[in-house]
Amino acid sequence: MKKTTKLLCALCSAAALLLSAGAMAKDLRLGLVVPGTHAWSQAAQAMGEELKERSGGKYDVVVFPAGQLGSEARMLQQLQTGALDMAFMTTAEVANRVPDFGALFAPYLVHDVAQAGQLLNGKTAQGMLDQLPAKAGVVGLGYGVAGMRLMLNAFPTDDVKAINGRKIRITPFPPVQDFYRLLGAASTPMPVTDVYDALANGQVDGVDADLELLWKLRLYERAKTVLQSNHMMFPVIGLMSGRVWAQLPQEDRSMIRELTRKHLDTLTAHYEKSEADTQASIDQAGVKVTPVGPEFFGDTLQQWEEIWLKKAPALADLRREAADLKP
Ligand code: BEZ
Repeated sequence: MKKTTKLLCALCSAAALLLSAGAMAKDLRLGLVVPGTHAWSQAAQAMGEELKERSGGKYDVVVFPAGQLGSEARMLQQLQTGALDMAFMTTAEVANRVPDFGALFAPYLVHDVAQAGQLLNGKTAQGMLDQLPAKAGVVGLGYGVAGMRLMLNAFPTDDVKAINGRKIRITPFPPVQDFYRLLGAASTPMPVTDVYDALANGQVDGVDADLELLWKLRLYERAKTVLQSNHMMFPVIGLMSGRVWAQLPQEDRSMIRELTRKHLDTLTAHYEKSEADTQASIDQAGVKVTPVGPEFFGDTLQQWEEIWLKKAPALADLRREAADLKP
């Protein structure tokens, strides 16, 4: 082949490569700390599949579950720099940066998962998302739920005073730290995956968790007192990097927001059913579950409220909205 023909062929292949690159899907990397089998990861996967289809292959969501991209704090930093495109994470991490989000963890703000779903779609919670670009460099696309929080203790807990001085595993962020501090507990931050052994070796005396974690991680084998307090909701938030968002066309932003909200919303129905199923399995396994209500916690709840009405002005509005929710 002549030199000029070879050069032309090389130029043609380069041009073809550039053209196909232009048509290539844009990968959106989405991180989670929960395992791939967890309902939050499955919602992310389903959102990605629908986005790929609706965008005609323009976007490909690549899901990284199980903390492959690091802790939630680390993922939030990556979202801020644009090194990560999206994340579904506990609203806990966001509450560490924007105090108003702590109000979502007010004790007994909602009765159950169904009410949590309603409140998160309400005016106040949705309005809080508007704070995120300026205060955290991320775009809040929507919320979903997880199971209601309860306590599993390796000590008899007939009275709230029994919690005083005990080491309780928590997800570390201010509203939950305040709750356990007011109960006199020594809160011990720890990923929930480490709790089984920590209960066995006495590193912690109890755990703040939900029914799903208690059952799937078999935590009930290591501690016998299940206080089904349902004392807090535990929302997940869908986030996108502010830097990545700024580069997207308006119609693509609308599609990503709509689909993220749709799939996060499915978690309410999922948890309504799965909480009932898990409850039945736990009963069959002979685990003794003691339901307790707000009265169990005495003055602590009022003290928490006084602190958080100052820290998170959104709390007053959330309480007003919550009072009108369907039972
Ligand atoms: C927890 O830390 O308890 C937790 C983390 C992610 C999902 C649900 C619960």
